[in-house]
Amino acid sequence: MQRVESEIARLIDECEYDEVTRLFKTLSGGKRLRAKLILKIASNHKSAPKLAAIVELIHAASLLHDDVIDEAKTRRGVTSVNATEGSKISIMLGDILYSKAFTELVDFDKEIAKTVAASVTSLSKGEMLDVKMAKSFNDDEEKYLDMLYLKTATLIEAAAKASAILAGKDITSHAIYGKNLGLSFQIIDDILDITGDSKTLGKPALSDYAEGKCTLPYIYLYKFLNDEDKEKLKNMHAKELSNENSMWIREKMNQHKTIEKSFEFALKLSNEAKDAMIEDIELVSILDTMIKRSF
Ligand code: FPP
Ligand code: MG
Repeated sequence: MQRVESEIARLIDECEYDEVTRLFKTLSGGKRLRAKLILKIASNHKSAPKLAAIVELIHAASLLHDDVIDEAKTRRGVTSVNATEGSKISIMLGDILYSKAFTELVDFDKEIAKTVAASVTSLSKGEMLDVKMAKSFNDDEEKYLDMLYLKTATLIEAAAKASAILAGKDITSHAIYGKNLGLSFQIIDDILDITGDSKTLGKPALSDYAEGKCTLPYIYLYKFLNDEDKEKLKNMHAKELSNENSMWIREKMNQHKTIEKSFEFALKLSNEAKDAMIEDIELVSILDTMIKRSF
């Protein structure tokens, strides 16, 4: 991973703007899931760290924009750029990272460049859908999963697919692996928003629902509630939750086992990814770590 970090630092320096270098250093790197995946799949290829750095820059850019859209105060446990520097700077820093990543991407094989570039269109469509869906209560599971796939899984799928092309490995099975890893990763994230505490999450707990996001545990919960409770849950949507209401939601989810049901679904997706990658012990172990993560 050190090679990826050096590559990222080199690309940032090449932007030739001290302010960008300074601001980028204030970002916490995060789990670097996409980079790790690329290094594992294309381990022997000399361009793997560069491809990994490109994908991480795109991911960082998308989060800078997302924090403006969500008006987030923190990111990965540290104050977000929009909170310290304002939305304009956060958007422009995102644009610089994003365009630098694309400048580097054109040096790769056309299929690789196309795979990564197309995934950014998908993730932007996913973000737009997310914004639109957050405006009203949603209990449509399929609609939610379609949005999740676009918003989170497509870049992970593209990372797996592009690195498989780079390494001359099977493209389809790696793409299935990436897609299912991405989807189950996001569902685990949605679960942690409910089960985690604000200190480990780096953001307030239950913030998804307050932001208008009806994640899988809420969609499942809605199905089990009686009409009166259905109304009560709907009335809490997209508002700051009182302690009492937070406790009510957690209690009802406990009662109807909707966290367990969501986890089972994430596990099912993860097992499908394992089936696609049965011979690759290291890729299987990424799934196991992800499913078990408490954060
Ligand atoms: C986080 O979702 C957001 C994303 C994974 C994607 C955001 C995508 C864009 C803003 C499209 C623009 C892309 C580029 C490259 C400029 P979340 O808000 O559910 O998760 P969070 O809790 O981590 O904020
Ligand atoms: Mg967000």
